[in-house]
Amino acid sequence: MAGRFFVIGVGPGDPELVTMKAARILRESPVWFVPRGHQDGESTALAIVEPVVDSGGKEVMNHYFPMKRIHRGETPDPEVAEAWRQAAEAILVRIRQGDDVAFPTLGDPAIYSTGFYVCETLLAQVPDLHVEIIPGVSAIGASAAAAGQPLCLGNERLVVIPATFENGRLQGIIEQFDTIVLMKVHRVMDRVLALLGEMDLLEHAVLVERSSQSGQRITKGRHLLSAPEPHYFSTIIVRKS
Ligand SMILES: C[S@@+](CC[C@H](N)C(=O)[O-])C[C@H]1O[C@@H](n2cnc3c(N)ncnc32)[C@H](O)[C@@H]1O
Repeated sequence: MAGRFFVIGVGPGDPELVTMKAARILRESPVWFVPRGHQDGESTALAIVEPVVDSGGKEVMNHYFPMKRIHRGETPDPEVAEAWRQAAEAILVRIRQGDDVAFPTLGDPAIYSTGFYVCETLLAQVPDLHVEIIPGVSAIGASAAAAGQPLCLGNERLVVIPATFENGRLQGIIEQFDTIVLMKVHRVMDRVLALLGEMDLLEHAVLVERSSQSGQRITKGRHLLSAPEPHYFSTIIVRKS
């Protein structure tokens, strides 16, 4: 019998935020297919789950996924598409041998996660493959919690966007919503802060770096202008009310 494929959200960094269901499925899966964002780097998802579930006795397959922009509806960068294809091929070998394969991914799989691209690639080849998505605590909720503020209450409208959008597009979206969550801010910090300044929203912004992790840092308002280079795990929340 063929094995199953599980995409497992493992939360934003604190191992205590790994759900019981995520831990159980990882414990029961003989193969872990773990994503890495750098050729030689460690897998963040693996580092999050290892204090919770012993990886001893597991086959841990590391796979590098290049961090490049993806525009839905457009042909992906060939290097990215090749990484998805190779991942699907390696996963299918183990699934056809009857092993369940777990793919731990940072935060929640439904939010800007490689896990879904791998799922799509797998399902294109094997449409009746057993795939399960296990939700996790997203950096969005973890960042709001760290900042001690809600994302939306009552009739407020919330939007989540990549900060990498060009300024005109960002501004149009920011104008329409009450709370704006900007992800992937680390490379475009100066441009985003300048835009928030122009829109008179800097005082409403909070930067949460490494939420729930040991290096967690929170910077608010004009202090953002003198903050050091942000970490890759950085999210800005702009709450207008
Ligand atoms: C590729 S997305 C993955 C999001 C993830 N699937 C989730 O649900 O949190 C990566 C972005 O998530 C945000 N992020 C991930 N972990 C974070 C953390 N611990 N603290 C703050 N932001 C984080 C950053 O904006 C980062 O650029």
